[in-house]
Amino acid sequence: MHKVLILNGPNLNLLGTRQPEVYGHTTLKMVEETCVSHGASIGLEVSHLQSNHEGALIDAIHGAKGNQDGIVLNAGAYTHTSIALMDAISSVELPVVEVHLSNIHAREAFRHKSYIARVALGQICGFGLQSYVMALDALSAHFRDKGAV
Ligand code: DQA
Repeated sequence: MHKVLILNGPNLNLLGTRQPEVYGHTTLKMVEETCVSHGASIGLEVSHLQSNHEGALIDAIHGAKGNQDGIVLNAGAYTHTSIALMDAISSVELPVVEVHLSNIHAREAFRHKSYIARVALGQICGFGLQSYVMALDALSAHFRDKGAV
């Protein structure tokens, strides 16, 4: 069974009450529970972590090496600023799928740039909770394709 870490960054603990016109009414708990149950249905063991602190997110990425097979990462606003998170992902050589609830490309120009995208397998954004579900499906397909090579 492949293991996947769902890693959520700053302000995502406030999902459900935070700018519902942008992020909807889904709470972080709903995101995490959906990921665990969808993961189980496609043969993935899902764990999750949220932090508002860049260093804690970096530590979680480091800690995933050797313990997880992949990461689904919503780095929140650090997506657009954090070379340190980008370097952490490069350092652990794990497949990472970048997710966002909102369509960052349809929003302010400063959200169009992603440091994570440079080192991610791919990016899924704009589908709310479904962005995470699709990311798990993408990782599952990635593991399957890798196994087939
Ligand atoms: C977000 C998009 C980011 O630009 C923003 O800073 C967030 C949430 C999203 O999921 O849509 O905190 O990552």
